[in-house]
Amino acid sequence: MAGDPIRDRRIQYETDGLDVADVDPDPVQQWRRWHFDALESGLIEPNAMSLATVDPNGVPDARIVLVRGADDRGLTFYTNYTSAKSRQLEANPVAAATFGWLELHRQVRVRGSVVRVDDAESDAYFETRPRGSQIGAWASPQSRPIGGRADLDALVAEQTARFDDDEPVPRPPHWGGWRLVPDEWEFWQGRASRLHDRVRYRLTDGSWHRTRLAP
Ligand SMILES: Cc1cc2nc3c(=O)[nH]c(=O)nc-3n(C[C@H](O)[C@H](O)[C@H](O)COP(=O)(O)O)c2cc1C
Repeated sequence: MAGDPIRDRRIQYETDGLDVADVDPDPVQQWRRWHFDALESGLIEPNAMSLATVDPNGVPDARIVLVRGADDRGLTFYTNYTSAKSRQLEANPVAAATFGWLELHRQVRVRGSVVRVDDAESDAYFETRPRGSQIGAWASPQSRPIGGRADLDALVAEQTARFDDDEPVPRPPHWGGWRLVPDEWEFWQGRASRLHDRVRYRLTDGSWHRTRLAP
């Protein structure tokens, strides 16, 4: 008899594993290594991370965003500055993020503080976006209720008409980047029998310290 597909679905993670000694001493370099593996493996959105913020009542909120930069300064993503997430980050500038590279049996968790990306960097990224997305950034009052798809289409038409076809679309003042500045990372590699490998990095006195955690 068929079992319950939610309760009973299980796959074994037969991977080579991960050790404190194997990982790069610099967590962002380790992230870049795993991100490269995710790209090479053809995962559809290796840049996607679930970003958790905290609302004014202390209740967590989470949604997926795409990372657009990963370096010593942190992980950068772009969004609407009047969105729910941005309002939460303004009030409480901390966040946690999770990458689920599930086909590779890998998860990366990040926690830290959040700062706004400066205007010049947001401008430079905005310029690289497709024109439709640039106009969308002007048109969409992200996270606000709207009546129907027709209302959104009307907002897009209104914004499209504002910009000359031959002129670049400037970045809206209400749109730009945030940078998650990590003070903790965790790299998780799935292993057989749920005895997974976990390596945590914590920033203490300006240096990263690595610890193995029980699965
Ligand atoms: C694969 C994927 C990628 C996304 N990337 C972004 C992104 O980079 N920036 C963004 O603002 N929203 C992105 N979204 C939409 C967000 O998940 C979310 O719906 C939106 O930002 C509004 O969230 P908020 O109301 O909590 O602010 C993405 C959604 C998915 C499923």
